[in-house]
Amino acid sequence: MIMKGLMYYSPRMYEMMMHVSHRGDLPKRFGAIKGLIGPGRVLELGCGTAFIQDFLDRPYLGIEKNPRFATYALRKNRNVVVDDIFNYGNYLRKGHNTVLLMDVLHHIPNPAVLLDRLMDSNISQVIICEPYNLPESVIHSSKALNRLFDSDGINDATDWHDRESLIDFYEGYGGVDLTEIRNSIITRIPVR
Ligand SMILES: C[S@@+](CC[C@H](N)C(=O)[O-])C[C@H]1O[C@@H](n2cnc3c(N)ncnc32)[C@H](O)[C@@H]1O
Repeated sequence: MIMKGLMYYSPRMYEMMMHVSHRGDLPKRFGAIKGLIGPGRVLELGCGTAFIQDFLDRPYLGIEKNPRFATYALRKNRNVVVDDIFNYGNYLRKGHNTVLLMDVLHHIPNPAVLLDRLMDSNISQVIICEPYNLPESVIHSSKALNRLFDSDGINDATDWHDRESLIDFYEGYGGVDLTEIRNSIITRIPVR
């Protein structure tokens, strides 16, 4: 059975936990992502509550499978539709320039399948922001605790990359402009 970690029950709780776990680094993270976005429209896959939209000055669409998160986002005037990010045909022909994958690749069982499809599309670039596991992290070094905190109710919790394998993964797709904030790394992958 697929578990749902505590913060995925409530969108308010999710946003609060983001602020607590990033300890004030969220503006830095959003600023770094905004600096890479460039012109055009942004499509965020697995957007959660889409709270980055409030920091962006670009047309934005988020795709999210958790209807509670999407309803909360819509109430905040954020542009979100409920869908599965693997339903490419529903969103890939809508003329978005940048696809944003923030904290989502470690949630899905087959990130390479998604990225390969995006690399073969008409978008200009993919921006990824992913955390890596710190050896001293009690939560993410224990499968049981990781499931308790990180299961989103859609996928089983997966293992996180360590720093080196995350960088290798990015470089394998031609990732540039790597920026490290705490234990997350942001990259931009040019596509067309
Ligand atoms: C850790 S959250 C990240 C949310 C947001 N990008 C952020 O950084 O705040 C991962 C999100 O991906 C969503 N998700 C996971 N698998 C999905 C899928 N197949 N289709 C759509 N959304 C998915 C989950 O519901 C969850 O809200």
